[in-house]
Amino acid sequence: MSDPDWWKSAVFYQIYPRSYMDTTGNGIGDLHGIIEKIPYLSNLGIDALWISPFFQSPMADFGYDVSDYRSVDPLFGNNQIFDDLLKCAHDHGLKIIVDMVLSHTSEEHPWFKESRSSGDNEKSDWYVWADAKPDGSPPNNWQSVFEGPAWTFDTRRGKYYLHNFLKQQPDLNFHNEAVQQQLLEECKFWLDKGVDGFRLDTANFYTHDKELRDNPPKTKDETPSNGTQFEKPYPYGMQRHVFDKSRPENLNFLKKLRSLMDQYPGTMTLGEIGDDDPYKLSVEYTEGNQHLHTAYNTHFMAGTDEGVLTKELIEDPINKFQALSKTAWPSWAFANHDVVRPVTRWGKNIKDKQAFSKLLIQILLTLRGTPFLYQGDELGLPEASIEFDDIQDPWGKALWPEWQGRDGCRTPIPWQKNGPYAGFSNTNQLTWLPISDTHTKHAVSEQEKESDSVLQFTKDFLLWRKNQPTIQLGDITFIETNNDNVLAYQRSLNDQTVQCLFNLSEDVQVFEDKKLSALEATFTNI
Ligand code: BGC
Repeated sequence: MSDPDWWKSAVFYQIYPRSYMDTTGNGIGDLHGIIEKIPYLSNLGIDALWISPFFQSPMADFGYDVSDYRSVDPLFGNNQIFDDLLKCAHDHGLKIIVDMVLSHTSEEHPWFKESRSSGDNEKSDWYVWADAKPDGSPPNNWQSVFEGPAWTFDTRRGKYYLHNFLKQQPDLNFHNEAVQQQLLEECKFWLDKGVDGFRLDTANFYTHDKELRDNPPKTKDETPSNGTQFEKPYPYGMQRHVFDKSRPENLNFLKKLRSLMDQYPGTMTLGEIGDDDPYKLSVEYTEGNQHLHTAYNTHFMAGTDEGVLTKELIEDPINKFQALSKTAWPSWAFANHDVVRPVTRWGKNIKDKQAFSKLLIQILLTLRGTPFLYQGDELGLPEASIEFDDIQDPWGKALWPEWQGRDGCRTPIPWQKNGPYAGFSNTNQLTWLPISDTHTKHAVSEQEKESDSVLQFTKDFLLWRKNQPTIQLGDITFIETNNDNVLAYQRSLNDQTVQCLFNLSEDVQVFEDKKLSALEATFTNI
């Protein structure tokens, strides 16, 4: 792991700290809880952690609205506990990347408070301010990802400000050089502490069109959704996002960020790309050594309805990326804190969900690109259903009853089958989200006892992968089979080839393929 490219062969594990382990008894997970679980993580066999934001925040978007980039929010601990966590992880051979939310801050950030206070203060141009149209309506047709227009009128400034997400998350103005420099300083603060890199939230949203041109509508042939969460048409999904995000000027900032990262050898950046066509951007952002190291998009995570895992669903994103670049290095995840858990999302027709969970682990860990597991993937957790009164996610509140929002994948990890709050918390209040009844049977305590559990399988598979350079770094080629239920690909490195064959159904499948003569067979693996 002293290799500067360690992140290419590594397996990452995402922690959503609110729901990992509560050690203070307030019903919310904390950094000390992660320290307690470092032996578990090390034993699991992952190499690096991405920790979702734990910075000071009023929590309108549960930490994705930062009011001080340099302080740990008291809910999660303090800066000393972060230092202890980093040391503990490093002592166990685990790297840590932290989640930098640079596109916007919280409205409670002192920069925004100053910016909104007048039109002539030092930070007046740090956010995106624009006059109302003569009829009082917003400056243009841009929409917020979460709901309604991307503009909110501020009475103090007498202008609208831009927010791609909640109105409590005003967008920083990346056209202002001072903003860019300041954000690099915030990143430097964490690099100086010794973090191993950053997950960059909404990395293609940083820059907007200076002329504030209207986004064009989608054509009839384009999917009227944002391709990630909500499948029914809604305003954000009806536009082609050519002016509010994914602007070419973004590369200028990414270049500066890369120069900073290069001063800290062995660190890396992972960009989150949310776009209808994320592949061109992913390649632009990650090819060569000038911008980001790697990026992921949400195409493996799209959809909320219970659905089916098809061959195309896996092949398409990989093929689209490969068609644009054979050298850029992608990252992939089937799950994160924003999407319906994959066992539920793809397992509609599957009876044996445990076997299906193992199948998903195997596919993710054998694709070309860095895999990111999300907490609970190793337990095969299904999506939890949340009562309206328990919903915390503002997006869920906005879209209820069509969609419960993102809380179903954010509920606390069940550590113990018995005992209060499944071993997540000993609070005498309620936990911030309930522990799902459907989750306790998947508790870590149980799975550690069962030799055929998803947890045990994940450990074994991760251990196997550690000694498979071809799986870690090889090229990938999909193999045509004459059977839609058989996903087949080949990974090759130097003179080694590994063939990966997966039966996506629960029935025995027969297929033929000349290239696979050695393995041509009747088989079932779930
Ligand atoms: C994060 C979300 C967050 C949004 C706004 C994302 O892509 O993953 O959880 O709500 O950015 O910061």
